Amino acid sequence: MIKISPSVLAGDLSCLADEVGRLAAAGADMMHLDVMDGIFVTNLSFGMPVIECLRKHTDAVLDVHLMIDRPERYVERFLAAGADILTFHYEACEDSAATLDLIRSKGRRAAISIKPKTAAEEIFPLLDRCDMVLVMTVEPGYGGQSMIPEMLDKVRAIRKEADRRGLKLDIQVDGGINAENAPSAVEAGANVLVAGSAVFKAENMREAIDKLRGK
Ligand code: DX5
Ligand code: ZN
Repeated sequence: MIKISPSVLAGDLSCLADEVGRLAAAGADMMHLDVMDGIFVTNLSFGMPVIECLRKHTDAVLDVHLMIDRPERYVERFLAAGADILTFHYEACEDSAATLDLIRSKGRRAAISIKPKTAAEEIFPLLDRCDMVLVMTVEPGYGGQSMIPEMLDKVRAIRKEADRRGLKLDIQVDGGINAENAPSAVEAGANVLVAGSAVFKAENMREAIDKLRGK
């Protein structure tokens, strides 16, 4: 089943809980929350306090994407704030295996992400510890960029390796995903699609989510 995780950063952050309510009503499966620290990526967004407040207003699955340097320093605080799925970047982390294990030990879903220049094979040794892998389809940091089609080869390679090892792994793609390119991402093996602009710039949110799902 294809799951849609709209990137809330593209919405009106002054009324985050309403935006999340609107997304849930429109059929979103989870809420993608982009955390940026101005170091790992040049942009800044929001952190634990915002997620903690939002948690009190929604039962939706909170899919937290950490684009921060040395995420292991903050993992426990993001889990305490209410993240259901916690994704961090392989490139930013000093001990990815221990960080994935820590997330799982708290009963949450653990995910690792790779930037466009990182080869899929680099994270193969970590796949058994992951519930999800996020393959970035743009350079992380900003919404509204165009998807880099070559990234789907990495999705294909990870799906193939997971199948070969009998792992039940979610593969998420994030960056420039829209109704036109979503089928190619799904064909490559992705089953969780993040979309910011494609959902928030659409006139009808439900229609946009349905279209991403291929309906
Ligand atoms: C980019 C973020 C994305 C982004 C998605 O660094 O991780 O989640 O906001 O937005 P679109 O779909 O507009 O590329
Ligand atoms: Zn993201």
